[in-house]
Amino acid sequence: MERHGSFVLQGNIIYTPDKDHFITLKNGYIVVEEGRISAICATKPAAAAALPLKDCRGKLIMPGFADLHLHAPQYIQIGMGMDDQLLDWLNRYTFKEEPKFADPDYARQIYPLLAEELADCGTTSASIFATIHPESTDILCDILAQKGLRTYVGKVNMDNNSAPALTEDTAQSLSDTEAFIKKWHKHPLVKPIITPRFVPSVTAGMMTGLGKLVREYNVPVQSHLSENKGEIQLVKELFPEDQYYMSVYDRFDLFGTTPTLMAHCIHLSEEEIAIMARKDVYAVHCPASNLNLASGLMPLRRMLDAGVKVVLGSDIGGGHTLFIPHEIVRAIEISKIRSIDHPEEAPLKLCEAFYLATKAGGSFFGQTGSLEPDYSADFLVVTLPIFQQDRTIEEQLQYFIYHGRAQDIEDVYVQGRPVKHTDKPAV
Ligand code: GUN
Ligand code: FE
Repeated sequence: MERHGSFVLQGNIIYTPDKDHFITLKNGYIVVEEGRISAICATKPAAAAALPLKDCRGKLIMPGFADLHLHAPQYIQIGMGMDDQLLDWLNRYTFKEEPKFADPDYARQIYPLLAEELADCGTTSASIFATIHPESTDILCDILAQKGLRTYVGKVNMDNNSAPALTEDTAQSLSDTEAFIKKWHKHPLVKPIITPRFVPSVTAGMMTGLGKLVREYNVPVQSHLSENKGEIQLVKELFPEDQYYMSVYDRFDLFGTTPTLMAHCIHLSEEEIAIMARKDVYAVHCPASNLNLASGLMPLRRMLDAGVKVVLGSDIGGGHTLFIPHEIVRAIEISKIRSIDHPEEAPLKLCEAFYLATKAGGSFFGQTGSLEPDYSADFLVVTLPIFQQDRTIEEQLQYFIYHGRAQDIEDVYVQGRPVKHTDKPAV
């Protein structure tokens, strides 16, 4: 009898236990018991006698992808205003789109489309910005929970320098945030994350209140950091006494007091990179967004060498794809372009970029993002064209990352439960 989320799956297994290696197992077995991986073996395990066996021979089995930075309300503005840089783009597009989520019915129409596409693309964990609106943010959480995706969701805080329709009363914003934390922090899959939009959007009073919530409820934090040169200049003007952009967050306990995600981190000095490493703050690299908004080329190799945890994000709608393999390729491309003028910065290898998108990203959520015992059974089954069947498993992964599509992802599991299932005939 099938226990919930308990089965054995046979297929071509590939994962990265560390950033420098792939491990592959041809037609190996993954034993899943109650949503966790209990064993990975080359020969048929004894457990297979008692559990249903899913035959995926010839297909790739890989960890699900982690998208550590995206804006749910921007799902419908993808591709808009890409001739602008960050601050103009925010004012001309984003700050006109996001007020629409004051209407919960609008959220009910849009957010299911995003949840569907995330699962379709094999994203099993994500950290998401909603909007300032409590009701729509709850709706987003309900939809993600129903879909079964492992997520952090932030009710965005904004009380400064924003469009009138997106400018909150500070006290109201803080009490809405506290209510949101209380409602979601015990949920097994969808959890709250404190989300000041970025330094220019929040007052010192707001950050003081958010820091208090961080300490009281021990919740993680996400925001943006050093994305665009105009933005950095604006932060200097708004907070002239702070040495660095990150010093502002840090001063209010929003920078590594609890697990922290900072999107972009492009224009950083060696000292700032060292502080990020010391404080264990994650840098979320968003390659498509950084190119679309002409923000810059993140010094990814320098950050890895300094010991910063780097992960990947789609940053839609600054980015234009939820399909993380495309971000993996773009991260590699950007690192190659950087290495032309910075020969000491070795380009990223595929296994490194894959690691950022799986095990490194997954680490923000606990034990997910790898195919190792005790990890959550969050993985994908990927089909390949017949003419790729004779290649090594590593070559098949290369093909999928560079030329695969969401349609090639046949099944997606989170905690051993299907969040996407298609019945394709075996090749
Ligand atoms: N900085 C502040 N808000 C945003 C946003 O919505 N997108 C990006 N890319 N950067 C931001
Ligand atoms: Fe962003």
